[in-house]
Amino acid sequence: MKKEYNINEVANIFNITTNKIRYYEKKGLIKPLRDENNEYRIFDKNHIMTLQAILLYRTIGLSINDIKEILTSNSNSNYLNHFNKQWGIINGEIHRLSGIRKSLEGIIDDLYEADGCNINNNILDIIEKTYKLDNIKNNWKDKWNFDSWAKTYDVSVKEDRGNLKIYKNYNLILENVFNLVERLNINYPSILEIGVGTGNLASKFLKNNYNIIGIDQSREMLSVAKEKYPKLKVRLGEFLKIPYGDKCFDVIVSTYAFHHLNNSEKSIAIEEMIRVLKDNGKIIIGDLMFENKQDEDNVIKDLSLEQIEEIRDEYYSHIDFLEGEFKKFNKELTYKRIDDFNYIVCID
Ligand SMILES: C[S@@+](CC[C@H](N)C(=O)[O-])C[C@H]1O[C@@H](n2cnc3c(N)ncnc32)[C@H](O)[C@@H]1O
Repeated sequence: MKKEYNINEVANIFNITTNKIRYYEKKGLIKPLRDENNEYRIFDKNHIMTLQAILLYRTIGLSINDIKEILTSNSNSNYLNHFNKQWGIINGEIHRLSGIRKSLEGIIDDLYEADGCNINNNILDIIEKTYKLDNIKNNWKDKWNFDSWAKTYDVSVKEDRGNLKIYKNYNLILENVFNLVERLNINYPSILEIGVGTGNLASKFLKNNYNIIGIDQSREMLSVAKEKYPKLKVRLGEFLKIPYGDKCFDVIVSTYAFHHLNNSEKSIAIEEMIRVLKDNGKIIIGDLMFENKQDEDNVIKDLSLEQIEEIRDEYYSHIDFLEGEFKKFNKELTYKRIDDFNYIVCID
């Protein structure tokens, strides 16, 4: 390999313009040497490799700023930080675009069937629905700050210092969810856990050689899970924008996570779970719930103000609501009560 190159030679190697190289230099991504006599730029082997990396990073959509930060340190955590961020952006775009594609499909079908009638209002309705759906999907925020809880989560589950003692049956619930999947007797099921947290449920599957992947919206939770269980596959991902294609999984499991979505969000999350579930796939959710409004009133009337506040800070499901939502997809829901607040629902 030649040792030094001028800017035209470099531009030829990569089939790019010299302006592009000057732009990357101006943005601080690359710093060529200068010829002492005429100030012309000189590129060595390292500059060539850096430029190749910059161009490749651009092909996956990384911003100039992100690339600049990636180039400053080749530590794993620096890479993870930027690639996870990009994963989130790309996943958001895929969801946005597939929402638009779905609404265009609806509009085109309506137009073919309209046979000359004016369906202008239908078109606008379809577009508005897509817009509203996108808004709900993008507006979910982690108001509990799980990132800051990640390192102490396991201890706080053990100590269970909250007013409601929601974790008193934690191990029993996780064990039950695992056993229910075992009893499904599916050959080599692909399992998705949503809200994997620090990996306590996933680890049971891992130990028994199941093919499981855990998603969570909290990078810190994922990092603790990975530290505890290096073999566990994890990805950044949300209930509302599951980062997988259609019909990928035989089973979806989740514990202590679904109650961070309100009812409109739950409906979308249910549609998302059904989307990524194979035909005849199963969903098993262990979470904080009431059977219905009446059950909630009954339980709440004996609670202290602090306890009620703790419930109101989250969105405990009503099982009759979930049942109705899953029915829309011809899915049957059965459930098991574990204690006043914890239930396990199975969707078949
Ligand atoms: C209370 S922890 C439970 C963790 C674990 N599943 C367990 O049973 O110990 C709730 C977890 O759900 C995750 N979570 C909450 N809302 C989520 C959402 N919309 N999408 C994905 N993960 C979510 C949080 O980041 C957190 O890791």
